[in-house]
Amino acid sequence: MLSITKSALAAAWLWSSLTLAFTNPIKTLNGSDPQMVYDNGYYYLTSTSWTTVEITKARTIEGLKTAIPTVIYDDKSDPLRTRNWWAPEIWRLNGRWYVYFSTSINGTWGEMLPSLTQWVLEGGTGAPLDEPFSLVGKIRPDNYHGGMLDGTVYNIDGQDYFIFSSVASDDESPNGASLWISKLLDPTTVGPATMIAYPEFDWEHEASAVLEGPAGITSPSGEVWVVYSADSCNGPQYKLGGMKLSPGADPLLASSWTKLQEPLLVTSVENGLYGPGHNGFFKSPDGTQDWMVFHANRNSNGSCDAKRQTFIQQVQWNEDGSPQLAPPLPAGTEIQAPSGECKKRSTLA
Ligand SMILES: *[C@@H]1O[C@H](CO)[C@@H](O)[C@H](O)[C@H]1NC(C)=O
Ligand SMILES: *[C@@H]1O[C@H](CO)[C@@H](O)[C@H](O)[C@H]1NC(C)=O
Ligand SMILES: *[C@@H]1O[C@H](CO)[C@@H](O)[C@H](O)[C@H]1NC(C)=O
Repeated sequence: MLSITKSALAAAWLWSSLTLAFTNPIKTLNGSDPQMVYDNGYYYLTSTSWTTVEITKARTIEGLKTAIPTVIYDDKSDPLRTRNWWAPEIWRLNGRWYVYFSTSINGTWGEMLPSLTQWVLEGGTGAPLDEPFSLVGKIRPDNYHGGMLDGTVYNIDGQDYFIFSSVASDDESPNGASLWISKLLDPTTVGPATMIAYPEFDWEHEASAVLEGPAGITSPSGEVWVVYSADSCNGPQYKLGGMKLSPGADPLLASSWTKLQEPLLVTSVENGLYGPGHNGFFKSPDGTQDWMVFHANRNSNGSCDAKRQTFIQQVQWNEDGSPQLAPPLPAGTEIQAPSGECKKRSTLA
């Protein structure tokens, strides 16, 4: 009897784990500029919380909605860390966890933007939240002097690169906030940076000339893509575009990158998502699927504030090798959880 009950329970558990689903939005406050990783049974989600660096941990995507975030860093003793704690990203590099984020001084926008500084936190080698994170310092290419934000890490052919957005750097980025890349010599040091993209298409500067929020993703056939956010985050014109590295070309040369002529993800009035952007990519727990986390506003009045919400949906691949990110699915759509989610929860057997 007992064994029958046990196997019935196991079957019920297996069924529920196979049919796991979630609905968006994941975060309704401070959910902008999200990024996440999956590590050993848990998702770790970060987003802009303005005054701290926080990480939310859960076994399931649905669970991220109610999990209490852990503040991993909030030291404001340096005036450069007074305001605008933006876009933290967590990465495991050389077996250890690192978090990159930006902050600025207080003041007018004209004063704050050029002061935007990228910082590196160093954590432990176990699970991301097992050990405390401590500040290593600033990360800044020697040849770049403007405001830096939205730094991300992308491993291309075995070499880690640091890609960031420039802001208020008229000498270095005369065409508006642009994307820059440098080699990550070690997790806390970068080599010289080069600009690889600036706002040029009409859809990249309808309201303001901005490229930001870079996120790397490699296609199943090995194509190297950087997806980026374009235009002002202050309205429905915010969107995602993409650029591809020519096979085998040097990522540090602008000429190695080719932009898609059309954006990859834009506002869907029909589906009620406005200004979808600033995404991060992650793999399903079993490594077979690509997913993305991004933010969007829920009405056309939305701006670049803490009311931007976090959404998660699967990435597909187009015949031409480009990532298929559209359409942004309506809030409340039941989405099948990433493949392999929750498998490690079983304790019945
Ligand atoms: C959300 O952001 C606001 C600033 O816009 C901040 O004051 C508040 O502490 C944040 N809340 C959480 C839960 O992070
Ligand atoms: C920034 O400066 C303004 C104006 O002086 C002040 O009201 C505000 O409290 C300051 N904010 C912080 C976080 O220091
Ligand atoms: C947008 O703002 C306008 C003016 O404040 C208001 O009339 C309108 O209802 C708002 N729309 C939404 C969808 O919140």
